[in-house]
Amino acid sequence: MDKKSRLTRRGFLKTIQCLLVTSGLLAFLAPIVAFFWPSNLEQVPSEPVSIGDEGSVPISGSKTLRFGRYPALVINTEEIGLVAYSAVCTHFACIVKWNPESKMIECPCHAGFFDPSDGSVISGPPPAPLEKLHVSIEKDMILIRANT
Ligand code: FES
Repeated sequence: MDKKSRLTRRGFLKTIQCLLVTSGLLAFLAPIVAFFWPSNLEQVPSEPVSIGDEGSVPISGSKTLRFGRYPALVINTEEIGLVAYSAVCTHFACIVKWNPESKMIECPCHAGFFDPSDGSVISGPPPAPLEKLHVSIEKDMILIRANT
């Protein structure tokens, strides 16, 4: 074996050092690139989104699901029936939740309260009502879509 083809201790350590530096740089840069890489999620889906069958949202219950880039809140009440809203609060974009005891949609961040019948603001700092989504039942499946 000639002398040049032998791996020296120094060469081995340099190779390991290069691998560690490269993997460290990749670990540092990957989240930055991922943050700026355009997502292929639509802002608002152009097609209806299925929630499940008719029993998937029980009376007084709710379901939060992904609707395009943002979550949606589907509520089923005896008085109103099935309604759906964007789950993004109009104040500072916290995610709102349905409270079956108070029968209001609540934002936990700054105590914003919304009316489940039309998404209007009952009290708190939100400046506008929740964005209402269209709900339909087709072939025993609950579908939601953006209002056009
Ligand atoms: S973010 Fe909802 S009340 Fe402030």
